[in-house]
Amino acid sequence: MGRSLTDRVAVVEGDITAQHVDAIVNAANESLLGGGGVDGAIHRAAGPGLPGECRRLGGCKTGEAKITAGYNLPARFVIHTVGPRWRGGDHGEDALLASCYTSSLRLAEEHGVRTIAFPAISTGAFGFPLPRAAAIAVRTVFDHLSRSDAISQVTFVCHGERAFLLFKDAVDELAGECTRTAGRGGNCTGLQGDVQEAVREQVRAQVQVIEIVYGIRFVEGERLTGEIASKCSDRECADIATSALNSWVALSGASGDVEVPPEVLARILDRASKRAAHQNDTGQGGEGTCP
Ligand code: APR
Repeated sequence: MGRSLTDRVAVVEGDITAQHVDAIVNAANESLLGGGGVDGAIHRAAGPGLPGECRRLGGCKTGEAKITAGYNLPARFVIHTVGPRWRGGDHGEDALLASCYTSSLRLAEEHGVRTIAFPAISTGAFGFPLPRAAAIAVRTVFDHLSRSDAISQVTFVCHGERAFLLFKDAVDELAGECTRTAGRGGNCTGLQGDVQEAVREQVRAQVQVIEIVYGIRFVEGERLTGEIASKCSDRECADIATSALNSWVALSGASGDVEVPPEVLARILDRASKRAAHQNDTGQGGEGTCP
């Protein structure tokens, strides 16, 4: 029996550069060439080797993540992610912030990372309200850990007591929700309603991130979300479908108002449901499918 979700998430107050974990996450900017706050602290502690490797990465889009070595840091890796700048809350900031955590966790798993530490991404220079960011960060991490055992420990490293208390409360609240629903077969990720609603919510957020990252708008985006959510009965399928949709948008060079051809969507959904079923049968992870 694996460790419980709540045993795999910790909140500490301190300096992320001092964490003895496999990977620490940097709250970077799109240039990846350093800055103040966490970014400055990590670059100072890592030493002169880090900027060179960062320069070779060619930047990073908001909501995405890239990885480098840790150099003089105790951590083997640094995962650089770029959080959203707060612009009032109706420019997809929530989805982009969630995507920072999801992208970082996926990248960590691809590199065999077992323990990872996050700062409170976007809550400093980028101005994201701390309570809202804490709730999104904790929920996104719980959601990921509920579907994958690859990472054994996530630590939120907070600067200052207020951040610590807010993250601690967010974890305790979700842990409580897990305890309340676990006996009744509830999903232990703190998402409202049943799994189907949780899948729809996940698909909607991921479709939103694709629109923001590529600067497009899906024609009838809500219908597209509904079609994916209705065909995918679980998160694995939804994950595969939306990453295949992301690939199609990138490869097709789509711009402006984008209509996904029915035959492309049908192929994405068919393969996603088959691949997810295979994963569930064999318990093996799999890559997103290209349409
Ligand atoms: N360890 C842990 N947390 C830290 C540390 C540290 N050493 N230093 C700062 N923090 C906290 C801040 O208090 C804040 O809560 O990290 C959170 C994120 O703040 P920022 O570092 O300002 O990051 P962000 O808000 O995402 O802004 C990113 O700032 O440093 C520049 O290059 C960076 O342009 C980018 C922008």
